[in-house]
Amino acid sequence: MGASFREARDRLVLPLDVAELDEAQRLIELLKDDVGVFKVGLELFTAHGPRAVELVREAGARCFLDLKLFDIPATMAGAVGSAIDLGVDYLTLHASAGPTALARCAELAEGTRTRLLAVTVLTSMDEAELRALGHRETPRERVVSLAHLAYESGLRGFVCSPEECAPLREALGPSPVLMVPGVRPEGADKGDQRRVATPTSAISSGASLLVVGRPIRRAADPRAAAQAIVREIEDALGAG
Ligand code: C5P
Repeated sequence: MGASFREARDRLVLPLDVAELDEAQRLIELLKDDVGVFKVGLELFTAHGPRAVELVREAGARCFLDLKLFDIPATMAGAVGSAIDLGVDYLTLHASAGPTALARCAELAEGTRTRLLAVTVLTSMDEAELRALGHRETPRERVVSLAHLAYESGLRGFVCSPEECAPLREALGPSPVLMVPGVRPEGADKGDQRRVATPTSAISSGASLLVVGRPIRRAADPRAAAQAIVREIEDALGAG
């Protein structure tokens, strides 16, 4: 495996969006050479807890624990501490939890292997839903203002849609990690994703890591599908 293929492979994230541990294990075994990170989300973690994280780590892959924490500062800090102890590489929390909680969590994660990622506005929310919550900004304005708040509180990673990569890079510069779902290879079924981008355009707008689920999991040959995406990332990085 060439260095640039490995570098590209390390930017591909496969969500383990399944409820059964043996199904998660099958996906990890099948794809561990073709993706760099496996995402453990609420469904799998609620059903099987830390065992799901251990399976990923035992395979030698990196683990993204997508729990989207949102609670009072002490509870968030406790959960972040537990995730750090599990050795996860990425962990999500909501920027809306506020500066006190964010700063406390950022301080805990400092110097550990766990990179905290702030979730700003869920992509399922549109302007009407934001208004119903009492917010006056457009979704994009709110994404940028919450990202600023998280950045000022010490966070250096964000989850965002492909469309938000460029505004966030402009606001925060080149160093933060941008974890980007909603990525579809050309011609792939969009599923329930509305705003999608190809791997090439996501990388060229500044994405660090690409989360791609169903186009890989549901492919006739998941390994070939993952490898094709890795090659596309490799080309996009080379072109950048
Ligand atoms: O199958 P698909 O590629 O659409 O999976 C995308 C993954 O990213 C899922 O795990 C989904 O929950 C997650 N996600 C998303 N959109 C967001 C945030 C997370 O699709 N805005």
